[in-house]
Amino acid sequence: MTERPEGDTVSYTVENRIAWVKYNRPEKRNCMSPKLNRQMMRVLDELEFRDDVGVLVLTGEGDAFSAGMDLQEYFRENEAQGIHAIRKAQREAYGWWDRLRWYEKPTIGMVNGWAFGGAYGPLHALDIVVAADDATFGLSEINWGILPGGGASKVAQELMPFRKAIYHAMMGENLTGKQAAEQGLVTESVPADHLSARVLEIAQVLLKKDQNALRSTKWAMKRMSEMTFDNAMDYLIRAQEALNSMGGLAARKEATRQFLDEKTFKPGLGAFDTAKIAK
Ligand code: ACO
Repeated sequence: MTERPEGDTVSYTVENRIAWVKYNRPEKRNCMSPKLNRQMMRVLDELEFRDDVGVLVLTGEGDAFSAGMDLQEYFRENEAQGIHAIRKAQREAYGWWDRLRWYEKPTIGMVNGWAFGGAYGPLHALDIVVAADDATFGLSEINWGILPGGGASKVAQELMPFRKAIYHAMMGENLTGKQAAEQGLVTESVPADHLSARVLEIAQVLLKKDQNALRSTKWAMKRMSEMTFDNAMDYLIRAQEALNSMGGLAARKEATRQFLDEKTFKPGLGAFDTAKIAK
């Protein structure tokens, strides 16, 4: 096959307020080349503030989520050019992972197959990750003589119990989706034939929540991991006050009205009707 043009390395569709974004190099098991990294940033930019997008899903075309960094185009070709090319490629990759981590919209990972090394960066950035039971996760770096850089070892150390993470990084043994869920690397795993239905179900629940409250909640959950208890307590007060001035007061007032006066919903059992918030 002739080389895929840059604009074709990522594909997406928007259906019913869900953006389904796909790594689109199935013939290369969706490994991340500099072209793909640049295109992914463009796609994230394009979707982030669209009114018709409420949730973003990241998955892979074909039988891979992503086979990590492209050993030919990301490593070999840039190393041949020198440090300027290496740094440029790193910034392009880390740039979109960071954008995804602090994305304005809720994000879901749908791990449909291979997920190696560099793919742990986006995995960590995504808010909720569902894997197929038979997906394959690996820190394969040790198998080809490097350490798991690009944040991959940090991701494993942060998400998995330490004894499991260090074993995973040192042994180069793969985990199934089921094991990845048991060890905290992903949120849950489901049979492959149920994967997109489960992701759709989660996306539909997220779409019903108040979007400002959802954004504040996900950012708080991520920021707090590096805070002391006292700092987190204070941050949460400030974050709620900031949320109040972004429509939070009106949302809470309406939700309280629906519960106490209208008696049309119970906060313990689901979300209020956000369509009724006074504009
Ligand atoms: N970099 C460059 N090319 C890749 C990569 C990669 N990470 N992964 C797959 N490809 C290419 C293969 O070279 C092959 O290209 P070709 O058709 O031109 O020969 C094509 O994708 C298909 O790959 P196969 O190996 O034939 O596919 P298979 O389904 O048999 O195996 C598997 C899939 C297990 C994912 C295998 O491709 C593999 O081990 N890839 C590397 C995974 C990895 O260790 N990634 C690096 C992690 S470390 C990091 O990201 C920093």
